[in-house]
This record gives sequence, structure tokens and C-alpha cells, in this order.
Amino acid sequence: MSALPGSAEGTAVTGLDSSPVEPTPVDLPPLTEQTRLEAREIIARYPVARSALLPMLHLVQSVQGYVTPEGVALCSEELGLTKAEVGAVATFYTMYKRRPTGRHLVSVCTNTLCSVLGGQRIMDALSADLGVHHDETAADGSITLEHAECLAACDYAPVVTVDYEFYDQQDVESARELVAALRRGEKPLPTRGAPLTDFRGISRQLAGFSQHADEAAARAAVDSVDQLGPTLIGLRLADQRGESAPAMHQAASSSSGAPEAEAAGVESAQRGAPEPAGRDTGDGREGADTPAGHEPGTSGQGPTGARRTIEGRAPRRKG
Ligand code: FES
Repeated sequence: MSALPGSAEGTAVTGLDSSPVEPTPVDLPPLTEQTRLEAREIIARYPVARSALLPMLHLVQSVQGYVTPEGVALCSEELGLTKAEVGAVATFYTMYKRRPTGRHLVSVCTNTLCSVLGGQRIMDALSADLGVHHDETAADGSITLEHAECLAACDYAPVVTVDYEFYDQQDVESARELVAALRRGEKPLPTRGAPLTDFRGISRQLAGFSQHADEAAARAAVDSVDQLGPTLIGLRLADQRGESAPAMHQAASSSSGAPEAEAAGVESAQRGAPEPAGRDTGDGREGADTPAGHEPGTSGQGPTGARRTIEGRAPRRKG
């Protein structure tokens, strides 16, 4: 097995994917003192430094186009982590690229719904046009092509994203035209959401640095509810017919019951007692929703406004 990224060899092979992390080509822009200062700005956002790793990986990717050994080293030094620890994260998530990328990243959903509606045909056609396969970059450096698992926009299938912006309800011809326009240097408007940037630009946004001049401009780039037509069809039909989902037993998000249910959940978790009354656990017992700030896989720092409720489900921006 090859060494981890950031090692002298600069390559890594994981059990998930045999793609190597390639050494930094000499012609890449260097990570500068400015990059380091921005990395520290990201770190300052978090109560625990290592929580900043994901946006920092996007930051170094925004400069060099992928997570280079140099980028791994910067993250390692600034966070006090080993290169192996940084590499383990960088090689786990598909949004961190292990080899140089093209100007744009084109992702074609080939998961079930998109595939039966033509997603695989789109992937095959783009692959033939560009002369590349999954996770490869066209010879002119314009496009990196990848197939993607469900992009969480099944109601707009088949879906293609460019630099994570959505181009909905594509077919072979529209996708080919889209890619041809990108190769000519054009930036066709996405179906919804923010205007197209490029892969390095969107990586910078994912690092938390806005491309918008001010808050008003940022808001203007976010979907309005009116743009979510297909997503809301079911809700509107149900509304017209007077239908609603069965009420949840003691909904934990109701204004009257939530604090008690959450407090009970914390208490029971602490003493290892059975779940308190609330959500049906399917085994004859009942439980409550996870208390805010204790969701698995979170640091508990998420905005409370993002919590979904039965009465007022937060409209998604996209996907
Ligand atoms: S299957 Fe393609 S977006 Fe869900």
C-alpha cells in the first residue's frame, strides 16, 4: 500500500477507492501566507480547532484545485493534527479531490431515479464527448466528469450539477449542449440557485468565504419558495384535498412539549434508562427526538433555525 497523502511519496490508497492523492505539480499556485491567514480565520469560527478541518480542506482546494500534499500539510500544521489524520478525512469524502481538477466539475446523477429517466445515458454521452471516464479530466482541462449518487433532487430528475449548482431535468442533448458551452468558456445559468462560478470558486464558498458583495446580494442568490415547484407539488395537492400526515404522538418540536421531552431525553441518556415517551421506536418502546445539539455526527453548533418541525418544515435551498 502506498503512503498517506503528505508523505514523501505523496500518494494514498484507501480501502474505499484506489484513487491516489497525486503530488503537487510544479505549476500549481502556491499556498501563501494569505491562505494560512484565511485558514486561521476559519479555525477561529469554531470552539474546537479540529472542527475547522472540513472547510479548511475546501480552502486549500480552492487555491490549488484539489487537496495536494501541501494542502494536507498546511491543515496538519495549523490544527495540530497528523498528516495521516488529515489525509484520512480528505480521502473519505468525495468532494475533496485527489488529483488536479478541470475548471468545472460536472456531476451526473446515475442513482436509481435519475438513471431510469436517462441519467446513465447522459453520463455515457458526456464521457464519449469528453473522452474521459468517472473522475477524470478532459485533455483541455475544462471539465472533470464524475458520476454521482443521489444528489437529493429526485423531483427534478435527471439531474446534472456543475460545481454543485443544479441543472434540472436534463436529457442527453441538453447536457451535451451544457458541457459544450462550458468548454467555450460560457457559464449557462443554473436552473435554480446561485449563478455558476467554477470549481475553485465554489470550493472557496464552501470554505465559508462568500462571493457576494453583501448580505443582500447573498440573499438574492438563494431560491425563493416559488422556485421549488416540483418539490412542493405533494404538499400543495395534500393541501387542496384537505389531507395531512397523521399527528406524531407528543411531537417533540411542539412549543409546549419540546423542552420537557428534550430534558427527559438528556436525563435518560445520562443514566442509560429507556427512551422517554415520544417517537415510536418500533420495538414496543417509545422515544423522544434527539435533543437539539446532541444529534449524531454534529458538534452541536448548528443553527437552531435549521431544525425541522412538523408544522413548519424549513424549505431547502436546493437539493
Ligand atoms: S436519484 Fe438523482 S437526484 Fe435522486
